[in-house]
Amino acid sequence: MPSKLAKLTNSPLVLPSILSADFARLGEEIDDVLARGADAIHVDVMDGHFVPNLTFGPPLLKSLRKRFPGVYFDVHLMVTNPEKFIGPFADSGADSLTFHIEPTSGSGGGRDHDDERAVIEQIRKLGCDVGITINPPTPATAIEHLLGDVDIVLVMSVNPGFGGQSFMPEVLEKVRWIKSRIGPATRLEMDGGISDKTVDEAVKAGCDMLVAGNYVFSAKDRTAAMKRLRGNL
Ligand code: DX5
Ligand code: ZN
Repeated sequence: MPSKLAKLTNSPLVLPSILSADFARLGEEIDDVLARGADAIHVDVMDGHFVPNLTFGPPLLKSLRKRFPGVYFDVHLMVTNPEKFIGPFADSGADSLTFHIEPTSGSGGGRDHDDERAVIEQIRKLGCDVGITINPPTPATAIEHLLGDVDIVLVMSVNPGFGGQSFMPEVLEKVRWIKSRIGPATRLEMDGGISDKTVDEAVKAGCDMLVAGNYVFSAKDRTAAMKRLRGNL
C-alpha cells in the first residue's frame, strides 16, 4: 500500500504539535497553523502510564478528522499498549500511527521482535502509515531491524510527556546513524525542543519531518516561525 506521506512533498515537513495549542479553541488553532504553512498536524497521545501525563483519546481525533477532512494527522502513541489503541485511532482518522519501542511486553525486558512486527502489521492492515520511535536514552540499534519496514522513524529529542522542554543535542548522533541506514522514502522525524535555535542541527543531521509545539504555538508570528523551521527565513 503506498504511503499517504508520499503526498506531502515538502522537505522538511513542519508539523505543529497541538499539545501546545489553546484547547478551548482547538479548531481555530489548527485552522490558523494550517493557513500559516503547517504541512500536517502532530497529535500527542499520552496514557498516564508510559509517560506521566494524559492527553487525547480517539474521540478528539474523530472530531478533528470531521472538521479537517484533507489534513494529514500524525498520531504519536506514547502508550504502554499500542495494540489496544491502533484500531480506535485508525477508525477515528489517523494517517500515521507511531509507536514506541520501549514498553515492556509481559514479563519485561522490552517488546520482543514478534510483538513489534505484529504492531506494524496491525497498523498497515488498517491503511495507516507506520512509525517507530525511540526515547533519548534508547540506542538506535534497538530499532535497526525495523528500519526497512516503517514509513517514519521518529527520534525523540526530549523525554516524552510534556511540551516546552529543552532539546537534547546528544540524540543527533542517532539521527546520523539512522539516516545512513534508511531509504529516501522513509521520513526521519524529530520531536521535542525544536526551535530556531535547534532546527539547523536537526536538519543537518538528516531530519526531514519536524514536530514543534511550543515554538510554533507561542510565536507572535507563526508564519515566520514555520518559515524559519523550513529554512526559508
Ligand atoms: C513530547 C511530545 C511532543 C511535544 C513537543 O512528549 O511528544 O510532541 O508536544 O513539544 P515542544 O516542541 O514544545 O518540545
Ligand atoms: Zn510527539
